[in-house]
Amino acid sequence: MKILIVGSGGREHALAWKIAQSPLCKHLYIAPGNPGTGTCGENVAIEISEIGGLKQFCIEKGVDMLVVGPEAPLVDGLTDIMRTGETKDILIIGPSAAGAMLEGSKAFAKRFMQKYGIPTAAYFEVNKSSLYEGFAFLESLRPPYVLKADGLAAGKGVLICDDLTLAKNQLAELLNGKFGKASEKVVIEEFLSGIEFSVFALTDGKDYILLPEAKDYKRVGEGDTGLNTGGMGAVSPVPFVDDAMWKKVKSRIIEPTIKGIAAEKMDYTGFVFFGLISVNGQPMVIEYNCRLGDPETEVVIPRIKSDLVEIFINAASGKLAETKIAIIKESAATVMMVSGGYPDEFEKGKPIAGIGDIHNSIVFHSGTSIKSGDLVTNGGRVLAVTTIDPDFRKAVKTSLQSADHITFEDKYYRRDIGFDL
Ligand code: AMP
Ligand code: GLY
Repeated sequence: MKILIVGSGGREHALAWKIAQSPLCKHLYIAPGNPGTGTCGENVAIEISEIGGLKQFCIEKGVDMLVVGPEAPLVDGLTDIMRTGETKDILIIGPSAAGAMLEGSKAFAKRFMQKYGIPTAAYFEVNKSSLYEGFAFLESLRPPYVLKADGLAAGKGVLICDDLTLAKNQLAELLNGKFGKASEKVVIEEFLSGIEFSVFALTDGKDYILLPEAKDYKRVGEGDTGLNTGGMGAVSPVPFVDDAMWKKVKSRIIEPTIKGIAAEKMDYTGFVFFGLISVNGQPMVIEYNCRLGDPETEVVIPRIKSDLVEIFINAASGKLAETKIAIIKESAATVMMVSGGYPDEFEKGKPIAGIGDIHNSIVFHSGTSIKSGDLVTNGGRVLAVTTIDPDFRKAVKTSLQSADHITFEDKYYRRDIGFDL
């Protein structure tokens, strides 16, 4: 079959790498892709926001399956638009806009969790006309204070404030348009203290299968210090997520969520990413995403033994109940190599060398491009270096050795991925 992946990061490179290995995949396109995905299939110069262009491409090439990496086109209705006209029979991995609201609106997600009894932090939804009620709710909480812009804000929409006055000022700033339309509504949340991890389900809106869990490292500095990033590394499996924890996650979180999706009649074929926190051993939901995580995908996908295309076909044709997924026992760890300065300002266009010598790790491209025939940096997150090993600490160590060998000016990476496990 002809398969089109939408996106251009490390997540999409990992998906392309896996899908290209399937005998069911006859031709793989990635829009717009990156130099890494270009080694797995054919990159197509269509941006993720060009929904009409993507649809036209699917018609022209006779694409059979669409796999959507990032959230923005899903929230914007890519799936809904594909479900009409000549593209209506394409198999799609990625929910409708109504399903993507689980990520696209934090207030919607909180209401959903409340309705279906899914454990999450206490919250209060505020808009401009209820600012003073918002202040009163903040006063009822203990610090730190968690403020979330309702809509998509490129991963910057969550503010954690230690001080009440600062929290009130930030709340007013958000409602006054700090993130434009995305922060016209704000969710104030009780702060949860615990250890975070991520689990992923692939659902067809009624049944689901589970992917391996992962833990990502969001802070830029070692020891989880400094600014939040898109993710500086990840490991899978997560040692503290044992059978007892999985049991709680399934019965209290995953099953009620899938039941909720079915009850709300969402057209939802795709991934649900559960951002979880274990509070004294009890799992609670921090957030939902309507897609896979990045860099979690770079450790989750290499652990899947099964044919991913076969699984996607089953998901998109309502046969997940009969589907099994085989996972390797070994651990995977990824170390994200970033441009110096990230997540603040950084320079692009730095030549990258040494990838060709790496044989013990898989190097997924996140932010790279080709300039005058040379591979150069093209983003904050540049390369995700993944290693498989029975011992996750050795996997991290090998990824670090590989990262040490790869060069570009001002490269930076955390050397302590997995330090807290
Ligand atoms: P999000 O963008 O929703 O993933 O949030 C970013 C990060 O903020 C999360 O990974 C958590 O570390 C933190 N966070 C979000 N909500 C809470 C909460 N209620 N309590 C504690 N930390 C939170
Ligand atoms: N690594 C977190 C995310 O993809 O949202």
